[in-house]
Amino acid sequence: MAPRSDSEGGASACAPVWPGLPFTSRSLLAPMEGVTEPCFRDLVLARNASTALGGAFTEFVRVHEAPTPKRILRRHMGPLRFAAPVGVQLMGSDLAKLARTAANAVECGAPLVDLNFGCPAKGAIAGCAGSALLRDPAAVERVVRCVVEAAGPTPVSAKIRAGFDHDRDLEVLARAAEQGGAALLTVHCRTRAEAYCDEVDWTRIARAVAAVRIPVCGNGSVLAHADFERMRRETGCAFAMAGRGALADPWIFSGAQVSAAQAAQFLLEYAHTMAERNQIPAGGLGARIKQLLRYWRAGGLVANDDERRAWLAERSGDALLERLEQVALNA
Ligand SMILES: Cc1cc2nc3c(=O)[nH]c(=O)nc-3n(C[C@H](O)[C@H](O)[C@H](O)COP(=O)(O)O)c2cc1C
Repeated sequence: MAPRSDSEGGASACAPVWPGLPFTSRSLLAPMEGVTEPCFRDLVLARNASTALGGAFTEFVRVHEAPTPKRILRRHMGPLRFAAPVGVQLMGSDLAKLARTAANAVECGAPLVDLNFGCPAKGAIAGCAGSALLRDPAAVERVVRCVVEAAGPTPVSAKIRAGFDHDRDLEVLARAAEQGGAALLTVHCRTRAEAYCDEVDWTRIARAVAAVRIPVCGNGSVLAHADFERMRRETGCAFAMAGRGALADPWIFSGAQVSAAQAAQFLLEYAHTMAERNQIPAGGLGARIKQLLRYWRAGGLVANDDERRAWLAERSGDALLERLEQVALNA
């Protein structure tokens, strides 16, 4: 497939908004395993101008038994390039393997390497990766430093949670990432123990901002377009990142209000893209669409809980797609 830049987003390439970082706006799409694979990510990048969505990330690439080969990294990066960059996120704790993988990512053209210090999954913790490293700030610093050395001039960012089971070491963790040479620190303001709870405390983001000189990206319950600016204003963070808010509304970055038909078209295009690229997930296309419908708000396609239940109750993927086609035709 030929590379292309922004389409519906409408903007051509635009300059980075922060020295030393490739992002084209201060609003970013969070890495989400099983969601921000290239098919979904590309559709979001195509629908938001690069002045509205400044960058995205691959799902985490788990580095454990061996350095990740370029073939796998290219698959995570996907076939298309947009004006807004897509950073490659790595998760692991073996310095040599992370370093080799980071060098591979750079050789594949990654504009940024991000390090995951937040994954709460048992497997990650058992393997001393992801959020497990939040219990050891010195290890965070070591991991960041070795990847910074391996990445050369390519910037490296670190994405942490506010802590493992408490937030008392937040400043220490933030400084560890800075000392290691991170060019950007993303703070998901929940601790590992808080998982994905509804309550968030943005003052933790402000604490990280006060603790370091590098730019901070705030993350946690950016649920509406106005929240990007509100988070930056209230915490002083340089960038704000949306995760599940973008699953509910892929246009959250531009703030565009879409119709139910446009919302249905997005979901249909997602299904077609997965089929076209031969990326049909194990549970089938319908399961992946339903994963989004659990969160979906855009276009009033899912107006209330009853409607959500009705969408999720569709028995087959084909029936779900047919129903979406009917909505899309009512444009
Ligand atoms: C389904 C799902 C998968 C996720 N996968 C990743 C991941 O691969 N890497 C990562 O750093 N964070 C991951 N996260 C965490 C998000 O990047 C983000 O920090 C978190 O959802 C909080 O932001 P939100 O409140 O805007 O959703 C994931 C979150 C969800 C819901």
